[in-house]
Amino acid sequence: AIEDHFDVSPELEAALLRKGDRARLDELARIEGMARLSFVRQQRALGLGHAVLVAKDIVGAEPFGVMLGDDLVDHPEQPCLGQLIEAQARFGGSVLAVMRVPREQVSRYGVVTLEPGGPVAPGLHRMRDVVEKPHPDEAPSDLVVIGRYVFSPGIFPALEVTPAGAGGEIQLTDAIRLLLRQEPVYALEFAGMRYDTGDPVGLLTTSLAYALKRPDLAPGVKAFLRTLRLD
Ligand code: G1P
Repeated sequence: AIEDHFDVSPELEAALLRKGDRARLDELARIEGMARLSFVRQQRALGLGHAVLVAKDIVGAEPFGVMLGDDLVDHPEQPCLGQLIEAQARFGGSVLAVMRVPREQVSRYGVVTLEPGGPVAPGLHRMRDVVEKPHPDEAPSDLVVIGRYVFSPGIFPALEVTPAGAGGEIQLTDAIRLLLRQEPVYALEFAGMRYDTGDPVGLLTTSLAYALKRPDLAPGVKAFLRTLRLD
């Protein structure tokens, strides 16, 4: 669906031309020119780390971004990935987006330990360790990794030697631990609002929040919400 969305659409274009719909034709041209996409399939569900590893040949030997599709981050000026790219360009290594969550929620995430000594730039810390989905009582902090990363290509050799871990899956977190022994990894407390669409309530509330930001949708959605009698 994503490939089709950004591809040329000759039939739609012809229909819009016949109708003389200039505005939509312009919008179509804008979308077609937006991105060049390459795809690779992860043929078996062997884990997030494995999913990143199958992109190795497409990525090549340069830093690259990883975005987990069920996490959205909203910021009016600079996308979260852009914030990570900026930090990586300045300090090198790899940079992970992190945020604080209530203690009882840490077991859903990778949880980080920072190096002592304070931030190297506002909100940017050297990372010492990361552990995947610890029990709240054993978690090293309340600082968790969300689904935005910029990795140095050094993550690939680390992934290649990462055995299956929690849940029998090749965990990205385990490869990051190996990478930490070789090169610096930073944690950036990003600016922006993070939405998790990974469960039904999250998907619904995220859709609502994004609808309320759109001038074409907000009035109708607000009018509906006002009719609800919430307890
Ligand atoms: C994955 C990662 C985890 C990270 C999380 C962010 O977990 O393994 O380290 O904190 O994404 O959303 P998943 O959500 O796939 O269980």
